[in-house]
Amino acid sequence: MTWSEELVSSENRQIQKMLRDTGRLPRHIAIIMDGNGRWAQERGRMRIDGHKEGMESVRSAVKTSSQLGVSYLTLYAFSIENWKRPLPEVRFLMGLLETYLRKEIDELHANGVRIRTIGKTNALPKSVQRVLKGAIERTAENEGLTLTLALSYGSRWDILRAVQVVAMDIRRGKLSPEDLTEEMISSYLQTSYMPDPDLIIRTSGEVRLSNFLLWEAAYAELYITDGFWPDFRGAELYRALTDFVMRERRFGKISAQLGSESAASSMSTLERILHALK
Ligand code: FPP
Repeated sequence: MTWSEELVSSENRQIQKMLRDTGRLPRHIAIIMDGNGRWAQERGRMRIDGHKEGMESVRSAVKTSSQLGVSYLTLYAFSIENWKRPLPEVRFLMGLLETYLRKEIDELHANGVRIRTIGKTNALPKSVQRVLKGAIERTAENEGLTLTLALSYGSRWDILRAVQVVAMDIRRGKLSPEDLTEEMISSYLQTSYMPDPDLIIRTSGEVRLSNFLLWEAAYAELYITDGFWPDFRGAELYRALTDFVMRERRFGKISAQLGSESAASSMSTLERILHALK
C-alpha cells in the first residue's frame, strides 16, 4: 500500500485535509533534528539508542511530508562539526544511515521520493557513498517529495566553496563582479535545486541555526520546540505546521500590502486543527 492509500483509512486524514485546505503549507521544510543523545541519557540508555529512535522520527517526518504534498524536506543528519564526536558514535551514525537507505529505498521509491544530498559527501565512508549514489540515481526521475539529507554539511563550508568558484569564474572572464546578483550566488550553492526553506524546525529547545542553511534561511520562519527529536512524531509535525500557517509572512512589506487571505480569516479552521491535535 502506498502512503497516500494508507492515508485514506487513517485518522490523520482529517487533520491533513484541514492543513492542506488552508493553502498555506510550506513548500520546503528543513529540520535540525536535535536531542537524540539527551533523549537517551534521560532514560539511562546509551546515546546510540537515541539515534535509533531518532530514525523512527525521520521515517514519520518523511511519510507525513509526502502525504501532505510538501515538495522539499531537508534533514540535517550529520554536520561537518559532527566528525569531532567519539569515533564509535560517528561509526554508528554512518551505519544507521546506510541501513536506512538500504532498508527504505524500495518504499521511498514506490512513493515517488527523490533523494538528494548536500554537504562534503566525499568525506563519508565509501560504503555509505555507494549506497547514497545508488539511491540518488534510482530516484532521480521521481516527482514527489525531494528528500535532501545534509551529510557532513556546513553552510559556511558551502558558501566558501561557492565563493571560490565565483572567484574562479571571474578570473576566467565568465563573470564580472558588478553583474553578481543574489540569485547568482544561490545558483552556486549546493542547494541551488531547491527553493529556500519556508519553515525551519529545531527540536530540543536550542535557539540557533548551527551552521545550517545560513544563506537560504534569510526569510524562513523558525519553529523551536522543547521536545527531543525521538519524540517528534505524528502530532508534533502537525503542530509545527499549524503554527506556520497561522503566521503572516510579510517579506518586508506591511500587512495592508498583502493581498492573500489574512491569517486571522482562517483562524477558525486552525482552531479546529489544534483542537483535533489535543
Ligand atoms: C542530534 O542529536 C542528532 C544527530 C547528530 C544525528 C541525527 C541522526 C538521525 C536522526 C538518524 C540518522 C538520520 C538519517 C537521515 C538516516 P544529538 O546527538 O546532538 O543530541 P544531544 O544534543 O542531546 O547530544
